[in-house]
Amino acid sequence: MNYINLKARAKINLTLDVVGQRDDGYHELKMIMQTVELYDRVYIKKIDKPYIKLKSNLEWLPLDSRNLAYKAADIIRTKYGISQGVFIELHKTIPVAAGLAGGSSDCAAVLYGMNILFGLKISRKELADIALKLGSDVPYCLMRGTALAEGRGEILTKLPECPNAWVVLAKPQMSLSTAAVYKALDDIDLDSHPNTELVIKAIEDKDILKVASNLSNVLENVSIPMCPMIGKLKKSMICNGALGTLMSGSGPTVYGLFDDRIKAQMAAETIKNEFKIRDVILTKIFNA
Ligand code: C5P
Repeated sequence: MNYINLKARAKINLTLDVVGQRDDGYHELKMIMQTVELYDRVYIKKIDKPYIKLKSNLEWLPLDSRNLAYKAADIIRTKYGISQGVFIELHKTIPVAAGLAGGSSDCAAVLYGMNILFGLKISRKELADIALKLGSDVPYCLMRGTALAEGRGEILTKLPECPNAWVVLAKPQMSLSTAAVYKALDDIDLDSHPNTELVIKAIEDKDILKVASNLSNVLENVSIPMCPMIGKLKKSMICNGALGTLMSGSGPTVYGLFDDRIKAQMAAETIKNEFKIRDVILTKIFNA
């Protein structure tokens, strides 16, 4: 096997709760993650030269060790003594720095792909440990589907499949720093938290209406003042027929869940025109 073609899918958060501070500076999380169909294409090819070469359709994307996909290939080559290099092409469709785990998912795809390509037989547990070194969302991106993520995000419990829904993603042009959003949360008292158990029950009952009406992300408390468009997008999702709406991850992407494709398509068009933003994408819940 000389090359591999993979789809690195985006995720949304159905819930995101911060339940404590940790000694390592990270936050103790409890969140329900869900894969959506939207994906980046990740092509990995063995090369004889002993280095990693990255290429992307986005000319401004860093293609060196600042890129998580590069880091993933680097860590695997070093740890498993691989002399051959790799050429990696990232065809990005998932908005970057958006709260959709695009970079983490590309990274997970490279870990998964290198394991297969070089016949390394790295165990699931070992791969997940390497993934966590690269980023808090990377272990989930290896797992995919519907999952409860706790700890830094690496303690994963598989949940039953989330009922199907159309998903409209809308990303404000501005970016939010994940670290800054988490840090700002330390200065406020949270007066409400997601009802994670209720959402898990709604998923088990295949009750999309109940899932949609209990979406909740504590990071909105700080991200909306930083980027008021998040609040406006949420209002617009509901006005345009969404069953429920939320900011994904540390933002700034807002998504709406819809039970009808046409309604979702019309909402996406209206929001794109109303907010004059480029990244409005229609996708759907993906269960592997
Ligand atoms: O792990 P990752 O590099 O993706 O995290 C980016 C930043 O998000 C961290 O540096 C930290 O500031 C914040 N974070 C956190 N608690 C988590 C995950 C991320 O505070 N559980």
